[in-house]
This record gives sequence, C-alpha cells and structure tokens, in this order.
Amino acid sequence: MAQLSPVKPALGRTAFVTGGAQGIGRAICLRLARDGYDISIADIPSQKAKTEEVIKEIEAYGRKAIGVTVDVRDAKQIEAAIAETVEKLGPNLFVSVANAGVTQVKPLLECTPEFIENEVRINLLGFMNTHIFAARQMVKQGFGGRILGAGSIASYRTAENLGPYGATKFAVRGFTEAAAKEWAEYGIRVNAYGPGIVDTPMWDHIDAELAKIEGISIGDAKALRVKRDIKLGRIQEPEDVAKLVSFLASEEGEYITGQTIKTCGGASL
Ligand SMILES: NC(=O)c1ccc[n+]([C@@H]2O[C@H](COP(=O)([O-])OP(=O)(O)OC[C@H]3O[C@@H](n4cnc5c(N)ncnc54)[C@H](O)[C@@H]3O)[C@@H](O)[C@H]2O)c1
Repeated sequence: MAQLSPVKPALGRTAFVTGGAQGIGRAICLRLARDGYDISIADIPSQKAKTEEVIKEIEAYGRKAIGVTVDVRDAKQIEAAIAETVEKLGPNLFVSVANAGVTQVKPLLECTPEFIENEVRINLLGFMNTHIFAARQMVKQGFGGRILGAGSIASYRTAENLGPYGATKFAVRGFTEAAAKEWAEYGIRVNAYGPGIVDTPMWDHIDAELAKIEGISIGDAKALRVKRDIKLGRIQEPEDVAKLVSFLASEEGEYITGQTIKTCGGASL
C-alpha cells in the first residue's frame, strides 16, 4: 500500500461549513483551518458578527476565510452560497459539512405542524440539499471530496420531548448511507458525526426547555444527564466533535464511508 504523503493534502482546498458561526460548526471551521483548508462559513444573517470573529481566528492560522449568508431552509440560498464559495475561494471545494441544525424541545402532543415543519426544513431538507449541491460541485471539479453531516446519538436512540429532532437525525443516517453508495464512484466519501451532550448554545436551550417541562432549575437537566450518562466523566466540548470531522475528512479515514459515527463519551451506551 502506498505511503501517505507528508505534505498536507488540504492546502489549497476549501471546506464549506453550514452553521459555522458558533458551537460545533465554529470548532469544525477552526479545526479544518488548522488542517490546512480555506474555509467558507455559511450561516444566517443574524450571525454576521460571530462569523466575522471566526474569520479572524482562521486568518490567524494563515488560511483564507469568507462568510456567506444562507438560510438552509431555502435550497436556492444553499446553491448560491456554494457558488459564492467557489467564486471567491476557487473551484477547490473538497469538504462540505452540513452542520446547521436546531433542536426544539416539546412533548409530541404539544408539537404543532409549524413546529415540526421548521425542524424538518432545517435539519433534514437543509442537510440533504447541502449535500447534493456540494456533491454536484465536487463531481464537476472531478477530484472527489468529503461530505459530512451532523447526526447525533439521537440518530440511533431518540429521547422523549425531542421526537421530531430524533426523527430528523435518524433520517440523516439513512441519507448518509444512500449518498455514500451513489457518490463513491466519484471519489466522494459521505459520513456523519454523532455527538452526545456538547457544551454549546443548543444544549443551553435544551436545558432551559427541559427545566420547564420537568419543573427543575436551569442547569439541572444538563448537569443530571452529564453525570448520569457520560461515562468519560465530562461534558463534550465542540472540539471533541471537530477531531472526528478532521479524521473523517483526512486520508486516515480513506476506507470509511456511509457511516454515522458516535462521539459521545459513552453517553449512548
Ligand atoms: N450540542 C449538542 O449536544 C449536539 C448533539 C448532537 C448533535 N448536534 C448537532 O450538531 C449541529 C450543531 O449543533 P450546535 O450544538 O453547535 O448548535 P448551535 O445552536 O450552537 O449552532 C447551530 C448553528 O446553526 C445555525 N443555523 C440555525 N438555523 C439555521 C438555518 N436555517 N440556516 C443556516 N444556519 C442555521 C445557527 O445560526 C448556529 O450558528 C446541529 O445539527 C445539532 O443538531 C448537537
């Protein structure tokens, strides 16, 4: 088997990350920049200030970074964001990360059609359309690529009060398998990362909503689950997730495709 090249293969290549302004997406942007990629940070307009901060951090690593605004509920905006990325950073899109997602916390009997539709449009339609527009660009370029998406431990086991969320994350796992089968012939590997309880604004939101439902104090829902469920004894940091993404994007992951890989400190056991 050929030896891996010591030269960073990421140099001169671009990674596109949705929901890159904060949380897990931000950590992925920074990690992929450290790996040598130029980064396109795709997020909603209200995240402009945070996006600018991430751009500065990436530039400090000596890599290029741009911000592109996108609401992943609108497929046309995703298509435009990828086109803008290629126009500004060159036709070198090698990694796409469909990371943007929301969690809405409600008992199923209280979920409205609008509530469910919003979650599906962001977590599932946005995810699938990001993958497809990225893959079209990669196929056009002709040198393969790496497509990643945000799954969750909820891709394998859903939780009460998070029903629609869990359904979208199960679907992430299914689509990841199908896309991996179809795009292997183009040298594109497709995988998803499945975090557990990560210390991001999303979990602050889940905690606050669970506190209302369970009649407990803010902070307690998260603290209880971290103590009870995480075998490695600490909450997950966004950087823990970024390490897996970096691995899957790299040559080290060259034989892995179609997988939703849990990274959760044992929380799913
Ligand atoms: N935090 C966790 O514990 C956890 C666990 C498992 C999976 N995940 C998944 O990881 C991903 C990132 O989670 P996070 O914790 O960093 O969340 P977060 O809420 O901290 O960040 C989400 C990002 O997505 C962006 N976003 C939201 N709606 C968007 C839209 N319509 N279009 C474009 N961007 C949009 C937000 O502006 C934000 O920057 C999500 O898909 C989430 O489901 C998170």
